[in-house]
Amino acid sequence: MRLVVVSNRVSAPNREGKAGVGGLAVALRAALRERGGVWFGWSGRVSEAPAELPHIVQRGRVGYAVVDITPLDRDEYYLGFANRALWPNMHYRLGLTQFSRAEFAGYMRVNRRFAAALAAIIEPDDLIWVHDYHLIPFAAELRRLGIQNRIGYFHHIPWPPIDVFGALPGAGDLLTALAAYDLVGVHTERDAGNLARSFAEPVGGMPVPAAPRIIALPIGIDTAAFRAAAQHADANSVVQRMISGLGDRPLVIGVDRLDYSKGIVERLEAFERFLVANPDRRGNVTLLQIAPPSRSEVPEYEQVGRQTDETLGRINSSLGDTGWMPIRFVKRSYTRPVLAGLFRNAAVGLVTPMRDGMNLVAKEYVAAQRPDDPGVLVLSRFAGAAEQMREALIVNPFDKFEVAEAIGTALAMPKDERIARWRVLYEGLCRHDIGWWTQSFLDALTASAPLAALPRFS
Ligand code: ADP
Ligand code: F6P
Repeated sequence: MRLVVVSNRVSAPNREGKAGVGGLAVALRAALRERGGVWFGWSGRVSEAPAELPHIVQRGRVGYAVVDITPLDRDEYYLGFANRALWPNMHYRLGLTQFSRAEFAGYMRVNRRFAAALAAIIEPDDLIWVHDYHLIPFAAELRRLGIQNRIGYFHHIPWPPIDVFGALPGAGDLLTALAAYDLVGVHTERDAGNLARSFAEPVGGMPVPAAPRIIALPIGIDTAAFRAAAQHADANSVVQRMISGLGDRPLVIGVDRLDYSKGIVERLEAFERFLVANPDRRGNVTLLQIAPPSRSEVPEYEQVGRQTDETLGRINSSLGDTGWMPIRFVKRSYTRPVLAGLFRNAAVGLVTPMRDGMNLVAKEYVAAQRPDDPGVLVLSRFAGAAEQMREALIVNPFDKFEVAEAIGTALAMPKDERIARWRVLYEGLCRHDIGWWTQSFLDALTASAPLAALPRFS
């Protein structure tokens, strides 16, 4: 059976092997590399009169089929409903949610147009796997066109409790659309519970359809490939330059898209707190925060960019010295080998989102470590990864005192304990890697067996 993957962001590999920034692009590339298939979605381009049919490019075993969208589509569908309404709502940020009926209509319209474009190239046996919140209505639109193939959906961001989700105008329509899928996947048991409960009570007076089959299946990374990249990274000149610039100071690292859900401002403040509480550490430790801009045309993202710059400037000017800056902040993306090398040389990985579907950076940090001298992962309890990665130092990112203490604990942790924690985490990453995740979802999608009989992560 041919696999057809559908996602808003399609990331064809470029010549430098630079990955698209964002967990979904990184993960789907790994999944399709193993199995081959077609990857359909937005080209990333905006044009006044986009072609109706996809533009198909074959690269190795993967065919990339992409379509452009109009400037209005981008404003209403991508910058609008998807990223100003759905994203904040699903990250539990009711105060940031901006809803407009025109944007909701634009979201539905683009889903309809994408479905029509895919319907033109679909074959009867294709297995269709749709990804992420931009495309919730996609299957319902395909069904309207008479497509009867099996269609699965994976939701890569959190699914909030009904009191939060139900506040989103259009919530009832989204649930109705979701019911058109044969299987819906989320990363955690918590999200699966919230989603199942969303189908159990009427939303905004609207009758709710029967729930689709729901599976909690935490996404993994290409553990072996990332580890291999890390092992070879010491020879990489970018990594060498970066590491030699640190001198003997231990490195604390954070890597995230510049997104308010990632808790970057709060993380900088926690690091400041750590330095204030531990004056002996001043001059002796560096935080490297890598945060490429993301969705910067969305006002709430522009605002977090400004807040980040202000916080960074304040901390570096108040605590820095002529020969030492507490925080190095870099706003660009790096190749996977460079990232792997930086993770490998960092004594602490700080992954402290305020809320996150999974967070692949947490997994990449662990995969990159040296088995005989690993670093320590400090992980937000609100990242989906925390449901699996219990041997990390789990923190509440809303409490900067707690995060500051965890940084101190991580830097002082004896080697035996670091090794013991790392081993358990690493074994989990090997067992539940991207191949396991892809296969488990596709098995569940093709099987008619009850989900209880299918593989689970714990
Ligand atoms: P999200 O999907 O919300 O962006 P994840 O942590 O799940 O969050 O995934 C982010 C992915 O993007 C990871 O694979 C990470 O390595 C990659 N990434 C993030 N920042 C960079 C960067 N500056 N350069 C290269 N890759 C990056
Ligand atoms: O699941 C995280 C996610 O929202 C993906 O859907 C998305 O591709 C990625 O983050 C990066 O965001 P964007 O595609 O808006 O640049």
